[in-house]
Amino acid sequence: MDINGTTDFKIRKADKNDLRALVDVRLAYLDEDWKGLPADQRFIIKTQLNAYFKKHLGSDDFTAMLAEQDGETVSSAFIIYSERPANLPFITGKTALILNVFTAPAHRGKGLATKLLGELIREARERGASFIELSATPAGRPLYEKLGFTLYQSSHCTEMRLQLA
Ligand SMILES: CC(C)(COP(=O)(O)OP(=O)(O)OC[C@H]1O[C@@H](n2cnc3c(N)ncnc32)[C@H](O)[C@@H]1OP(=O)(O)O)[C@@H](O)C(=O)NCCC(=O)NCCS
Repeated sequence: MDINGTTDFKIRKADKNDLRALVDVRLAYLDEDWKGLPADQRFIIKTQLNAYFKKHLGSDDFTAMLAEQDGETVSSAFIIYSERPANLPFITGKTALILNVFTAPAHRGKGLATKLLGELIREARERGASFIELSATPAGRPLYEKLGFTLYQSSHCTEMRLQLA
């Protein structure tokens, strides 16, 4: 065991062979977050996930970190990069979004999510992202705060959205 207790696990970046593992770990996260997905929506989401990971795995705009034990994925964290015309809060024009931070219940509290997020934060810094954003669940919030994330409120704008689908 190292100081974080994570040496029993293989920590690695997902590659093109991990499509199935990523679909499974995304569905596991969604099942917990939404306390089960209705069957029809699960089917639609699974179809999209297969297409999404096929397209983005191995590309510059998406990284997934995985922790494995005996070949089984036990923890995950994804990051998605975007590029937009620069503004003061994103002076480099590059921003990042973290999602699907998930550790299988039997392996929680062993430092796995902390380790995977640390790798993604390092990568985002190296790639010149101005910030990393995320939506925190109650379980995730203390973890993110420990890593330096803070609540973000724009000084002069209100975040809005128009839900289309
Ligand atoms: C939130 C979640 C991802 C945390 O995963 P995890 O792998 O257990 O996280 P870590 O072990 O890195 O850190 C969690 C806690 O364990 C502690 N910890 C770290 N290493 C530890 C070790 N070796 N032994 C005991 N505890 C340890 C951390 O300090 C942290 O403590 P805290 O509760 O005081 O903040 C996990 O609970 C989960 O999957 N929840 C459901 C999905 C979810 O809500 N995800 C967040 C989406 S925003």
